[in-house]
Amino acid sequence: MAHLLLLLLFLSFSLLPLLSLSATDTFVYGGCTQLRYSPNSGYESNLNSLLTSLVNSATYTSYNNYTFQASTPQDALYGLYQCRADLSMPDCATCIARAVTQLGALCSDTCGGALQLEGCYVKYDNSTFLGVEDKTVVLKKCGPSVGYEVEAMARRDAVLAAIVGSSGAYRVGGSGKVQGVAQCVGDLSGSECQDCVGEAIGRLKSDCGTADFGDMFLGKCYARYSTHGPPVFSKAHHGKPFFTTTTTAISLINLVVTVRRHLRL
Ligand SMILES: *[C@@H]1O[C@H](CO)[C@@H](O)[C@H](O)[C@H]1NC(C)=O
Ligand SMILES: *[C@@H]1O[C@H](CO)[C@@H](O)[C@H](O)[C@H]1NC(C)=O
Repeated sequence: MAHLLLLLLFLSFSLLPLLSLSATDTFVYGGCTQLRYSPNSGYESNLNSLLTSLVNSATYTSYNNYTFQASTPQDALYGLYQCRADLSMPDCATCIARAVTQLGALCSDTCGGALQLEGCYVKYDNSTFLGVEDKTVVLKKCGPSVGYEVEAMARRDAVLAAIVGSSGAYRVGGSGKVQGVAQCVGDLSGSECQDCVGEAIGRLKSDCGTADFGDMFLGKCYARYSTHGPPVFSKAHHGKPFFTTTTTAISLINLVVTVRRHLRL
């Protein structure tokens, strides 16, 4: 049962040798499965091919998925990436290349891994997660409370409502200094994305209360807001430890799926 546990690796941004990178490349979260593959196995060569494919694909499309079938089911490999939809293709490609490099360092020899940078997301595993909605809270971060700033909170609520009320995998909204953004991973259907964004925004409002910014990363989508622009999604965390504010890092990568599979919950 030890392999039920996931190795959660939340790095302080200040520990990463990446201080000169732009905001797009800022580390948000990352994690690895505890299951490992054997070095020099077929899985390793498939994984190397997968990661190369992701990097190449990101030069021409902001989302893609890959499946590598193998002779034995446990050697099958699934992977995807998603760039934030406002990124240019060169920026998407740069972001994915950096995410893949960081994943390699973070998750050496593990069957699965996921990494979110400000501008892009990469995930792979040997159990399939493609096309599966996942509303598990992966990272929640709330800024300090602004108190009863009625106008700011009314704007915040209006921006979040507009994001829920719009459609598409990438949604942005703003009112005055209040900015909001939501993004789904491209494997969700329109209705799954709507459901996921609705959940993320509901949690932002309930969990972050009157915080001046909020970040809610679920398994397959996220929603974020900032009441004091610039947009939270391009704000860097320069020089500060990653967890400077109320942050709850809860679970990662198929935790629910894995636990269900092994415990038959
Ligand atoms: C993933 O790989 C590990 C290690 O080889 C194996 O124990 C596990 O059953 C695999 N998972 C799936 C879904 O095949
Ligand atoms: C995976 O990518 C293929 C094309 O490369 C696409 O047809 C398919 O819909 C994608 N699947 C998911 C779950 O996104």
